[in-house]
Amino acid sequence: MVNQEMSRRTLLKGGGAAIAGLSALEVAGPAHAFPGGPGEEVIPWLDPPPPNPVPGAVGKLLDWEALDSWLTPADNFFTINHYGEPAVDAVNWRLGIGGLVARPQSLALADLRARPRREVTFALECSGNHGFPFFIGAVGNARWAGTSLAPLLERAGILEQGTEVVFWGADSGRVTIRDNGGVLRPGTSGEVVPDADGNLDLTITEQFARSMSLEDALNGDNLLCYEMNGVPLRGEHGFPLRLIAPGWYGVANVKWLTRIEVMDQRYAGRFMARDYVTIREQVRDGQIVWTFNTVKHDRLKSAPAKVTRRRDRYAVMGAAWGAPIAEVEVQIDDGPWMTATLEDQPRRTGRSRARTEFAWRFWTLQWGKPAAGEHTIRSRAFDVDGNVQPPPDDPYLASKVTYWEGNGRIARRVAIPAGD
Ligand code: MTE
Repeated sequence: MVNQEMSRRTLLKGGGAAIAGLSALEVAGPAHAFPGGPGEEVIPWLDPPPPNPVPGAVGKLLDWEALDSWLTPADNFFTINHYGEPAVDAVNWRLGIGGLVARPQSLALADLRARPRREVTFALECSGNHGFPFFIGAVGNARWAGTSLAPLLERAGILEQGTEVVFWGADSGRVTIRDNGGVLRPGTSGEVVPDADGNLDLTITEQFARSMSLEDALNGDNLLCYEMNGVPLRGEHGFPLRLIAPGWYGVANVKWLTRIEVMDQRYAGRFMARDYVTIREQVRDGQIVWTFNTVKHDRLKSAPAKVTRRRDRYAVMGAAWGAPIAEVEVQIDDGPWMTATLEDQPRRTGRSRARTEFAWRFWTLQWGKPAAGEHTIRSRAFDVDGNVQPPPDDPYLASKVTYWEGNGRIARRVAIPAGD
């Protein structure tokens, strides 16, 4: 996520152009807010994130203290663009569906918009969120609209050998593949340089791509998405089309889609096999075993968003996501865990009745009149299956040597002023 390629924005901004035929913009409804409003004051955290060191690749990280809207406006919705934002020619853009299919497809945006429209409110989180002190705002909740992926795959006629579906973005960048003793030559566009062991490091221009199993791809929740919060996707969020895979970490939600390809094996490009891989050190039968897993589904998580004061009464507010939430508890310092109140999910926003089971859930704890001085606030979410957001000594978290999929409990510090 945070690497050199990210800051290399060689490609021009695209997608800002107005598109004929997309004028019927649905205005996002009144934002569902935390209870609060006039007379409410936010007490600033003592541990604000440091400045973003990679603004070329990471943008608009959520400002937790400012969170007051259930739908995250695009202006405040984080972005992760590994290879910059590609210039997309909206007029000539087409989505190809090919590979192991009987009837390859080529679809214009108008073709996709003419198909049945589906909407889902989904809290999209980067699997690296909370991996670095500056990187604590890579989550946002938006209403995504598009058309279902599955019927289009079915229409293309998946051949019997097809087991995996690859989603290609329009963006690409230079990457170096090291420690691969099989590299013999640079091809027509690569470069090779010998490493210390005499193997060749291969530098190529790799396209952003992710794959999922055919079964996962055919899941009825997946959308070929062209709208975010009632307006066409912005360039930085994947205009003209992105995959929205509700319940999957951000990286699976490929932006600037150009091609969908059915294959007979898992795709092993950078974002499947090298980056976004959780590496764990485990012990089996007394032996250390290292394991590697591609980042896939969201994990249960919650975070305190802000502490507020109205007159002399304090409250802690936050969000929980990653699974259907049953309960959130809050711990102040080393005190007992206390049950927070879950706010109702808005049934509809504006004219939309988008599904909300993948949305985040806001929660509030009435804190009363805490003692003046510094306090540490933690939250933990429970899902409807009884799973709990894990403590730091959880075997899964403790075995990880990479920061991906970090869903441990998040602690924030606040100072309650004296003399109220
Ligand atoms: N798709 C493409 N084509 N290129 C990218 O760099 N970044 C991924 C994903 N899809 C990315 C991409 C990652 S890591 C995340 S977290 C999400 O997009 C972020 O989506 P957003 O920028 O719309 O918030």
